[in-house]
Amino acid sequence: MEFWSLPAGERLAEFARLRTLGTPVFYAEPRVPFVRAGKGFYALVRHEDVQAAGRNAKVFSSEPAATSPEPPPWLAFFFGTPMVNMDDPRHGRLRRIVSRAFSPRMLAKIEIDIAATATRIVDDVLAAGPGDFVEQVAARLPIQVICAMMGIPEQTRPYVLRRIDAMTEYSGVRGSLLRPRTLRLLYGNLKAIVDLHRLVARLGRARLREPADDLISSLVNANVDGERLSVKELGSFFDLLLVAGNETTRNALAHGLKLLTDHPDQRALLMADFDARIGGAIEEIVRYVSPIIQFRRTLTEDFELDGNAFKQGDKVVLFYPAANRDPSVFKDPDVFDITRDSRQHVGFGGPGPHMCLGANLARMELKIMFRELLSRLPDIRTVGEPELLLSNFDNGVLHQPFTF
Ligand code: HEM
Repeated sequence: MEFWSLPAGERLAEFARLRTLGTPVFYAEPRVPFVRAGKGFYALVRHEDVQAAGRNAKVFSSEPAATSPEPPPWLAFFFGTPMVNMDDPRHGRLRRIVSRAFSPRMLAKIEIDIAATATRIVDDVLAAGPGDFVEQVAARLPIQVICAMMGIPEQTRPYVLRRIDAMTEYSGVRGSLLRPRTLRLLYGNLKAIVDLHRLVARLGRARLREPADDLISSLVNANVDGERLSVKELGSFFDLLLVAGNETTRNALAHGLKLLTDHPDQRALLMADFDARIGGAIEEIVRYVSPIIQFRRTLTEDFELDGNAFKQGDKVVLFYPAANRDPSVFKDPDVFDITRDSRQHVGFGGPGPHMCLGANLARMELKIMFRELLSRLPDIRTVGEPELLLSNFDNGVLHQPFTF
């Protein structure tokens, strides 16, 4: 974990050095308690290589897991396998079904919820005064959006939020897993997953008996081709939404406010024509920040890439922050410029079957929240440096003081 505790500038400098080497470098995998040690991985750091691996899912497989270290098999047995760890045809089938959650019709429905939540958040900020941007703003929106999406009734949401707090507390754990406090948090985390599975399973069974006009109904009831989610799959989809859609968007919001504070010229440009520039600003925030640091692939056959003859079974890790600062694609990549064309960034994953399913939802959340914040609190800004999460996966912000 030493590398991940270095300041961001030093990590990016190391990625820049790796990009100039002729071929991907091999690293041993760190040992993690309770998890079988992996045999190590090659780091993909060039934009072209990250895209090539993401696109070619037949050779660069997401099974047995796209996350490292690999989750223990008992976790998949009890909680199901999330689609991010699947290949076709299982992945394609699930993605077709859950894409219903992100259809333009569903997104239009959710937009109303997002706007109402953003308004409530800023009302509360005005009442409470300056404090911690993560706690008061960034952590609140994505969770509410996911609950609204899943059709979790308003009165059940505090129950869900408490369980998510237990999960977040665990994901903020640093250091050895074997300390009593860590074990207690691990237990709280697993119990929260079980409770949330039970909750959505109950909602799923209720919607099977009596369908309503909501997402859970459309996921558990068959479409014209007879495709639907089983109740267990519904539980693991909910987990995935919580993991994939929650901290990512929260961190993009927190890093985003810091970037706009540190670059007053870019903020002035944005405010001069918010509607025209917010789309580009969001892509640039995601490129610059890379809220997700990496996903992994395992080779299904021998394959040559970037001068390296990979063998079947080799693992590669796709480092998005490295690809997003590749000067062969982005001119002056370390400059934060909301007017640049950053569409080629891989912050939402490279083009390919696993590219972020929630990207348009995340864009919508960021746009609505920044509009609400910057228009109603024109002097809002971060104060000092954020407290960052020590993680090789999540470019997380634990706390960020702010004022307005
Ligand atoms: C700024 C916010 C976000 C970032 C940076 C982000 C990033 C990513 C990345 C890098 C992947 C690729 C995984 C891979 O290639 O293996 C991914 C996949 C995914 N994301 Fe996002 N994400 C964000 C927001 C969201 C939101 C809001 C949701 C839903 C509520 C979501 C749902 C998903 C799902 C379901 C997948 C798996 C897709 C698949 O395996 O087919 N994401 N995301």
